[in-house]
Amino acid sequence: MKNLGLIVFGIGIMWANAMQASSLPVYLDNGRPVEERIEDALSRMTLQEKIGLLHAQSKFSSRGVPRLGIPELWTTDGPHGIRPEVLWDEWNQAGWSNDSCVAFPALTCLAATWNPAMSSLYGHSIGEEARYRNKSVLLGPGVNIYRTPLNGRNFEYMGEDPYLAARMVVPYIKGVQSNGVATCVKHYALNNQEYNRHTTNVTVDDRTLYEIYLPAFKAAVTEGGTWTIMGAYNLYNNEHACHNQKLLNDILKKEWQFDGAVISDWGGTHDTMQAIKNGLDLEFGSWTNGLSEGSKNAYDSYYLADPYIKLINSGALGTTELDDKCRRILRLIFRTAMNPNRPFGSLCSDSHYEAARRIGDEGIVLLRNEGEILPIKKAEGTAPRILVVGENAIKMMTVGGGSSSLKVQREVSPLDGIRSAAKEIGATVEYARGYVGDVNGEYNGVTSGQNLKDSRSAKELIAEAVNMARDADYVIFVGGLNKSNHQDCEGSDRKSYSLPYHQNDVIEALSKANRNLIVVNVSGNAVEMPWVKKVPGIIQAWYLGSEAGNSIADVIFGKVNPSGKLPFSFPLSLNDNGAHSMGQYPGIKRNKENVWDEEYREGILVGYRWHDTKRIKPLFAFGHGLSYTSFMIGDASVDKKEITQSDSITITVPVTNTGVIPGAEVVQLYIADPVCSVTRPTKELKGFEKVYLQPGETRHVSFTVGIDALSYFDSDSHQWKAEPGEFKAMLGNSSDKIASTVSFVLKK
Ligand code: GLC
Repeated sequence: MKNLGLIVFGIGIMWANAMQASSLPVYLDNGRPVEERIEDALSRMTLQEKIGLLHAQSKFSSRGVPRLGIPELWTTDGPHGIRPEVLWDEWNQAGWSNDSCVAFPALTCLAATWNPAMSSLYGHSIGEEARYRNKSVLLGPGVNIYRTPLNGRNFEYMGEDPYLAARMVVPYIKGVQSNGVATCVKHYALNNQEYNRHTTNVTVDDRTLYEIYLPAFKAAVTEGGTWTIMGAYNLYNNEHACHNQKLLNDILKKEWQFDGAVISDWGGTHDTMQAIKNGLDLEFGSWTNGLSEGSKNAYDSYYLADPYIKLINSGALGTTELDDKCRRILRLIFRTAMNPNRPFGSLCSDSHYEAARRIGDEGIVLLRNEGEILPIKKAEGTAPRILVVGENAIKMMTVGGGSSSLKVQREVSPLDGIRSAAKEIGATVEYARGYVGDVNGEYNGVTSGQNLKDSRSAKELIAEAVNMARDADYVIFVGGLNKSNHQDCEGSDRKSYSLPYHQNDVIEALSKANRNLIVVNVSGNAVEMPWVKKVPGIIQAWYLGSEAGNSIADVIFGKVNPSGKLPFSFPLSLNDNGAHSMGQYPGIKRNKENVWDEEYREGILVGYRWHDTKRIKPLFAFGHGLSYTSFMIGDASVDKKEITQSDSITITVPVTNTGVIPGAEVVQLYIADPVCSVTRPTKELKGFEKVYLQPGETRHVSFTVGIDALSYFDSDSHQWKAEPGEFKAMLGNSSDKIASTVSFVLKK
């Protein structure tokens, strides 16, 4: 009897739910397929409401459909952490007190881990922070290829190689979107410099476009499933990338079947008809005609606002394009703001700080370690005396740099990190400024709170550092670039490949005063190192975010065995770089027009592809990174000597930790096509795996490669092609350290 009662009760509940659901309009019924919900919502919307979806209503939000209960879309920068709230229509701060965040390491550091698991951890963590802050779109990550060491925004991107960037961006996207927050992969495409970023018209051959500049974006769409993409500021083939027929309609939406929304960069929209016809879906940040930049941006004057309504009401246009844009934006809303299954996120949690530190620990690259000066260890009976020199040892790096600037809950400086780690081994730490660089500590109203002013002359500062260096057991110079204009900063490129602020003079002077000199280069770009042979220890330390000082100290004192590898080459001098040797950087001004034409003449020979093929030895090579232990990569073997277009080959190589402490090595697979009817780079990265090994341990690493890894893009046929003949698989732990090579044949 009792069971019968329960059954009746259960049926009653199910009936009530069913009735309630059926009383809901389809678009609000979470039980219905999203595509049905989109069509239902669209059918209920007025023309005004549809147009309202297509453009911003404030600096970082766009309208939903209030009448139907469809929520607004809130976007936020940036790739390394969640930007503090700004005023409705301003770049400046809203002055909230609940929007401090964790700053994760810059994406160059993430790329330098060569570890997709770190990307997944990164994406999940930053996605939790965005979700907690109720943001639906994270304006990142950036995957523009590192073409010139002068590009002010390289620190936000994932290096010079399309395969590495593609492998590393996919898990980041999945991690973020697992929180019900969309990524907005940027800046699509060919935004490889900041100089004249709004007015540079890029010309590049199709083969280079498809082999170098598109792969990371393609992976983001076809493997990562990113829900939005951001159009770039620059022009390509004389059309702005934010409304570019070839990039957006032909490639992104047709070839790659992208079902998400294309969002303009802020101020990247310039024409209503092009925006309608050439694939733009959501317009942000326009400085519309008749309005100057920064004034109240009359959102109804946006290109996809009143001008669009006028075209439809006049009968000049139908609503085909409009409905497609609305479908994409509604799909974005259903995936995010109206997604009933998304978690709640978290902000400034211990796990986020741990993630930031782990990624920093794994991304730091040990460039040079002559005489094994590193790690600094406690010698028996003595207390090492350490002198830290340099502005970058104390300067906050999370403020500045452009839209990725953050208001952090905390940032551990290199000096603080070194001090606390040194205490554990009984070492003493002194500090000398060494040089004065950028004393500003404010960006868009966020201040670092530091007063770095120092009226002493360069001579006095060097003299002080040298005097103190003479009495130290170790000198750690922490320098590099910073986040101010013409350094690693959005909106401007570097003016020189050299270190700024006379740092070379400081390093040279210190190298004479104390041979136990370690240089920690904090930067998002390669820099010239004329003193490289005089400095036994060199660390590439990136912008590491909230846990910067702890990660740097972890490596310096050996708590962590460094395993990072360079995601881009360090040319000896600027002219050793393809874009500067051949490429027309920064572009040539078109007469009587505010347009700079730039042809990427170096073509596919970007980064190590240029160094290898032109036989120009770099200062430090793509993929380079040392360890405190040693590894041996043995002889590679293949499971077959011949393959056809449709099958694959497995290449296996043993890697052994031949040292006495645990460590991780990145085994890199490069493919060479020595005989081909077209010019191909000497070799190209087509696989990598990071393996953690105990002392004496050997692991066999296998790579299975198919026709994709052997192909080049043939622009005449618009197809990927691999020509029959011999191929070589080259295995090593850097692009300039190949340990083993095996050949195989691709049959006709
Ligand atoms: C900026 C940047 C872009 C950023 C956007 C919003 O100009 O180019 O990366 O997400 O505007 O701040």
